[in-house]
Amino acid sequence: MKMFLQNLLFFLFIITKGSTEYTRPGLRPSVSWQHHRSDSDPQQVHISLAGEEHMRISWITKDRKVESVVDYGKTAGAYNESAVGGSTSYRYFLYTSGEIHHVKIGPLEPSTIYYYRCGGYGPEFSFRTPPSAFPLEFAVAGDLGQTEWTESTLAHIGARDYDVFLLPGDLSYADFLQPLWDSFGRLVEPYASTRPWMVTQGNHDKEAFPIIYPQGFRAYNARWRMPYQESGSTTNLYYSFDVVGTHIIMLGSYTDYDVDSDQYKWLQSDLIKVDRVKTPWIFALVHTPWYNSNRAHRGEGEKMRKSMERMLYDARVDVVFAGHVHAYERFTRIYDGKADECGPIHVTIGDGGNREGLATSFKKPSPSISLYQEPSFGHARLRVVNSSHAYWSWHRNNETDSPVADGTWLRSLSSSAACNQTLSQSKFPKDEL
Ligand SMILES: [Fe+2]
Repeated sequence: MKMFLQNLLFFLFIITKGSTEYTRPGLRPSVSWQHHRSDSDPQQVHISLAGEEHMRISWITKDRKVESVVDYGKTAGAYNESAVGGSTSYRYFLYTSGEIHHVKIGPLEPSTIYYYRCGGYGPEFSFRTPPSAFPLEFAVAGDLGQTEWTESTLAHIGARDYDVFLLPGDLSYADFLQPLWDSFGRLVEPYASTRPWMVTQGNHDKEAFPIIYPQGFRAYNARWRMPYQESGSTTNLYYSFDVVGTHIIMLGSYTDYDVDSDQYKWLQSDLIKVDRVKTPWIFALVHTPWYNSNRAHRGEGEKMRKSMERMLYDARVDVVFAGHVHAYERFTRIYDGKADECGPIHVTIGDGGNREGLATSFKKPSPSISLYQEPSFGHARLRVVNSSHAYWSWHRNNETDSPVADGTWLRSLSSSAACNQTLSQSKFPKDEL
C-alpha cells in the first residue's frame, strides 16, 4: 500500500509538472553582426533548393565588380564545376545594398557534400544535398529576428543534423533599418550556407512605404530569392518545391489571396499537378495563422483561411505551419473550425527568438481543437520517416539545451483509406478549374 501511494504521488508530480511550471527565461538583447572580411569576399551566404537537383547560392559583396560565379566540387579545395548567375542591388531611401549575387548550380547528387567558393574570393563553404529517399528531416522556426534568443535557437537547430530548414515568415526584424538585413544575413550564414533555407515572408519583411515603396518586400525579394519561377509562380512571394516525397507550398499572407487573385489561381494550378505517389506528403506554410487560440493576432488570418482553406482541404494537405504569434501551438486536424480527420493539422511556430518577446496569453479554457499551447522560444523538427509516417517534435529553448516539450506521430492523409477515397471523389481539382 505504501509503495502504491509513493508511486501515485510520483505519478501526480510528473503529470502536474507540465509547461505551466516551467520558469520561462526573459527577453534577451538584440545583437548586431559585423562584416569582417574584405570587400570582395562573400558575406551573408545562404542556399536554397532551386528545382530538381539544383541549388541556388546567394551572397553579397561590397565590391560591385565581383563576378557572380560559383566554383564547386565534391572535394575540398578542388572545384571541377563552375556556374555563372547574376546580381542585383536595391535602394531604400538613403541606403544602397551591396551587390546581391544569385547563382544556380547543378545537377547535384543526393546526400552529397559539396564544397564551394563564391565569386572567386574568400573562404570555402560547404553544404549537403537532401537524400533521394526517406527519411528526411526538416527543422522549422519562424519569427527569428536577431537577438541572443535567436542565436540560441539557431545553435539548437545546428546541434542536430537535418536536411532542410523551413521558415514561415518574419526573418530579420529590420523594420526599415536596412543594415539590419545585412546583420541578419551574417548571423544566419553559418547555418544557411550549409543547409537549404526555404522561407516565406511575414509582416516584418514588408517594409512598405506610401507612394515611394507601396508594394513592399523590396529587401526580402532582392536578398531571399526563392524558386518561384521553377514552380510556375510569377512572384517571389509564393511558390512551391518538392523534396524527397514531400511537396511544400509557401503562401503569401500579405499578397492577394481572394478567389480571383493570381495567388489563388497559382495555388489551384500547383495543387492539380501534385502526384501523391511521387510526393505522398503535402505541407503548406503561411505567416499569419488560420487557427490561433493565443490572444495575440486573433482573427488576422481569417480572411485568407476563408478564401483558401477549402482548396487545401480538398487537396488533402497534411500540415499547415504558421508563424506571427510568438509562441508554439499545435492543433488537431481541422476543416472549417471543426475537427476533421481529413483536414490539415495546424501548427503555430513563431517562436524563433525575435526582439518583441513572447505572446504569453492563451484563451482559457483552450478550444477542444487546440492540443498544446506554450509561449516559449524554440524550434521544431519534422522527421518524415516514410510515405505514411512522420514524427513531429517541438524543442523548447532552455538556457543551454532544447528538450522535447511536445511530440507526436503524424500519418499522411494519402495513406488514409478514408481520406484518399474522398480525395478521388472530391470535386477538386477537376471541377474547380
Ligand atoms: Fe509577424
